[in-house]
Amino acid sequence: MFHLDQCNVRIVQDQDVKGLISMSKTIWDGHDYIPTILDKWLPDGHFFVAEYHGKIVGCVKLSLFPDNSLWFEGLRVHQRYQGKGIGKLLNEFAFNYANTLKSLNPLLSFEFCTYYMNHESLHMAKAAGFKPVKKYYVFEKRGVRKMLEPTIITDFDISLFKQHKDYIPCGWQAIHNNPASIDWIKSKCTVFQTPQGVYLYGGLSQKNVLFLQEPKYDLRKELPYFQYMYGASKSIEIIIASKWKKHLDTIQALGFKDWEGPLTKPNMLVLRK
Ligand SMILES: CC(C)(COP(=O)(O)OP(=O)(O)OC[C@H]1O[C@@H](n2cnc3c(N)ncnc32)[C@H](O)[C@@H]1OP(=O)(O)O)[C@@H](O)C(=O)NCCC(=O)NCCS
Repeated sequence: MFHLDQCNVRIVQDQDVKGLISMSKTIWDGHDYIPTILDKWLPDGHFFVAEYHGKIVGCVKLSLFPDNSLWFEGLRVHQRYQGKGIGKLLNEFAFNYANTLKSLNPLLSFEFCTYYMNHESLHMAKAAGFKPVKKYYVFEKRGVRKMLEPTIITDFDISLFKQHKDYIPCGWQAIHNNPASIDWIKSKCTVFQTPQGVYLYGGLSQKNVLFLQEPKYDLRKELPYFQYMYGASKSIEIIIASKWKKHLDTIQALGFKDWEGPLTKPNMLVLRK
């Protein structure tokens, strides 16, 4: 019998790494990215674990992004312990912590990103007062054999992102479109150009290619350039602004898919409170 009152949320410690890795192996059939970013999240702080009888059963991370954005991420509960209130407990802890940070910096906004079918996460977000503020399409496709080297652009400023007025999704982390974000973007992402388009390649672990311009050109010709960025990876992921939905059919005809099948609705949501 599980007792939620015996579950304790606390700041992560170095010795939690093993427990975090074994917990995350139970998430998304073992495809969780958390083990790959622990070396960054541990020293960054604002990282919490739920412990039950000495075992790590969940975690949540808050990250300070440019322009006073407090980003909620990495909410996980060990599969065997899901549905018992631990996710809610972690969220409440994160909120209390976030509110303390906000009392020191009233400009902070709370934000996060989730998948449109993540009902638990959306339910908790709604209850906590988050509202969807931006939507995107994320697609995945098997890689292609041919690779072509794009031109890497290092000298750019925020005007490059004028098609993404509010947020710039760097993978599943969306950064404010603000001059303060430029250093963050340059340190974590790569901008590349092909003869047809300009893109941002970034993301925490699994990377995505964000279209910086409307894809009203021959997308098939872009695939070898995307593959170059991914190297030997067997799949390519792209992010398209929802305002460009008229290109969905062309994109899906090339074999790009949502994990659950063909897409009609945006599947990546940015929520804010
Ligand atoms: C999302 C996750 C962290 C939730 O943790 P959990 O411990 O199972 O959640 P809880 O038991 O605390 O339940 C949280 C809330 O979700 C609700 N919920 C659960 N399943 C639901 C569903 N299918 N639809 C709507 N609400 C649902 C619960 O009723 C509860 O709300 P309530 O307290 O108002 O009743 C957990 O499922 C998980 O680790 N999933 C995989 C990783 C993931 O998706 N992380 C979030 C990325 S943004």
